[in-house]
Amino acid sequence: MERKLHVGIAGTGMMGRLQADALRRLPGVEIVAVCSGSPERARDFAAAHGIPNFYGDYEEMLNACRLDAVHICTPNHTHFAYSRAALERGIPVYCEKPLTAGGDEARELCRLAKEKGVPAGVNFNYRHNAMVQEMRERIASPQWGKTFLLHGRYVQDWMMYEDDYNWRCESALAGPSRTIADIGSHWFDTVQFITGKRIVRVFADLVTVLGSRKKYAFQTGSFGKQRGASFSWTDIDTEDAAFILIRFEDGVSGSLVLSQVSAGYKDNFVINADGSRYGMSWNQESADQLLIRSRENGTSLLRADPSILHGEAVSYAVLPAGHAVAWSDAQAAAIRRFYEYLRTGGSPGFATFEDAARIVDIVEACLESSRRQAWTDVR
Ligand SMILES: NC(=O)c1ccc[n+]([C@@H]2O[C@H](COP(=O)([O-])OP(=O)(O)OC[C@H]3O[C@@H](n4cnc5c(N)ncnc54)[C@H](O)[C@@H]3O)[C@@H](O)[C@H]2O)c1
Repeated sequence: MERKLHVGIAGTGMMGRLQADALRRLPGVEIVAVCSGSPERARDFAAAHGIPNFYGDYEEMLNACRLDAVHICTPNHTHFAYSRAALERGIPVYCEKPLTAGGDEARELCRLAKEKGVPAGVNFNYRHNAMVQEMRERIASPQWGKTFLLHGRYVQDWMMYEDDYNWRCESALAGPSRTIADIGSHWFDTVQFITGKRIVRVFADLVTVLGSRKKYAFQTGSFGKQRGASFSWTDIDTEDAAFILIRFEDGVSGSLVLSQVSAGYKDNFVINADGSRYGMSWNQESADQLLIRSRENGTSLLRADPSILHGEAVSYAVLPAGHAVAWSDAQAAAIRRFYEYLRTGGSPGFATFEDAARIVDIVEACLESSRRQAWTDVR
């Protein structure tokens, strides 16, 4: 039997927990260390998850443990330095999105990963949904015909009140874009994945509806409520929402609505693909379902049933028909693909640093477009 791969996790918030859950579904992998912003948080997480070593400092963890891979689940401003520190030591990296705040930093990481020959992936987990894979299979098949339009949204409400505040509101920690980098990045990656086509131009209108927010002394992890006896008003320099027109490399047009301030929408991520023969719509809130839209035959619902999906999509329908595969299964599949690559090589079945650098470029083009109020080429 192969030896277990020793893994470290940086970050003990929402994604630290969810990536730890996904890692535990993999044979041959053991989480041996965790670090967080404070030693206490790392200790509590280690105790809760049965992890033998914990650290209050990332470099200390890298130096103390012989890691076979590290998962970076910390706020965005750490991604560049943490990825670089691991790559320089020859440790494979699985980093959260967005990879970096700017394209130059992302490219520097790509260069380093290549120079060192170290696998490096980014957690664009939505492409690992069974029905997203099915969309990709169908768009690649001759029965699809031609893609007319691609459009959709990614809308949430968890930042809609002025006392909703966390590290994402601070551009020093989250980067110059909030909503586009945070959730638009997922939409860009997923739509490029299903079509196999790059986004080459954008026209973005950014909206900040809450120009200042109440910041309390203590913020909890993502989607949590902050606490404290008093607050200070804090100016906000990043977008709550965005409207984006998109052009793909094959000339196809698209559009995207992004928001974190839209009441009642929780994690409403929708991709509509309109083809010359039929259309498809996927919403991650009902992740195991794909709407097949037809002019003549109305709309039908395809479910993640391994016996009726196509190609690669079959392996993503990990439960028997009628048992809904969803977010956690896609997350586990994403991480499984990364470890398959570590073990056996071949072609990476996950989003690489190169893929993620391309997404950073799209985010930057959106910011530039909004500033110029003009169509802007993606670098
Ligand atoms: N792929 C996805 O679907 C998805 C979903 C949510 C968040 N994310 C990404 O995951 C990352 C983390 O987001 P989150 O929602 O888990 O945030 P969070 O606020 O819930 O957790 C962040 C964690 O990082 C720790 N931390 C802060 N600074 C640190 C430092 N310097 N060193 C080590 N640990 C530090 C905090 O103590 C906390 O445990 C972000 O980059 C975010 O964009 C991805």
